[in-house]
Amino acid sequence: MTSYGIIGTGHLGSMLAEEFVRRGAISREELWVSNRSQEKAQRLARKLGVRAADNLKVAERSDVLFLCVRPVDLKGVIAETSELLTPEKLIVSVAVDFSLRQLENLCRARAARAIPSVASGKGLGVTLLVLGSDASEDDRSLALSALRVHWLAGGGGRGAAGGAIRSHQQRARVYLCHPQGVRPGSLYAGWKGG
Ligand SMILES: NC(=O)c1ccc[n+]([C@@H]2O[C@H](COP(=O)([O-])OP(=O)(O)OC[C@H]3O[C@@H](n4cnc5c(N)ncnc54)[C@H](OP(=O)(O)O)[C@@H]3O)[C@@H](O)[C@H]2O)c1
Repeated sequence: MTSYGIIGTGHLGSMLAEEFVRRGAISREELWVSNRSQEKAQRLARKLGVRAADNLKVAERSDVLFLCVRPVDLKGVIAETSELLTPEKLIVSVAVDFSLRQLENLCRARAARAIPSVASGKGLGVTLLVLGSDASEDDRSLALSALRVHWLAGGGGRGAAGGAIRSHQQRARVYLCHPQGVRPGSLYAGWKGG
């Protein structure tokens, strides 16, 4: 059984936790949450029926760990938990301004970035998923199934999304994802504009 964790239960982290549970992507027993101000994580845990703990315990218990703190706090969270972030784990950062290379340089875990949009909270938005060099096809499936999205474009630095980002993420695999079956062409046009 795969266990999931979320560190940082602010706007994005709590939105993801609620979506994971509401849509049945992750069962309550498999989801752990933590937050700097612990009562916030405990409140969310009570509301959703998931488990709250501190960062170290959540990092220890999770096979897939979503890092949902602001970029300025991310290095600190990784430093605190780095001993536990072993190659057996997948970390998924949602920070907009923190590269995969930075993540990979700071810990030994396999790394990915997922950038959901506000509409993801309604099961509608586009999510950009970028896999690091050590992340596997299984990791892609795990991330996509937790986020309940399907990839529409990109992969291996090719395709519409891949081409757009190739210059910044030479080794990365980039996927443009959406919960529903929207045509990739129209999605990509919207994403480029926004
Ligand atoms: N909001 C969006 O629409 C959106 C969209 C795409 C991506 N993102 C990305 O999502 C990330 C979070 O954004 P947000 O809008 O959710 O910010 P937020 O509401 O400020 O949430 C950040 C949370 O991280 C917690 N935190 C900070 N340091 C921590 C630590 N050391 N250990 C555990 N928890 C810690 C904060 O706890 P406290 O309660 O103690 O402050 C806060 O609850 C950012 O990296 C952002 O780039 C956000």
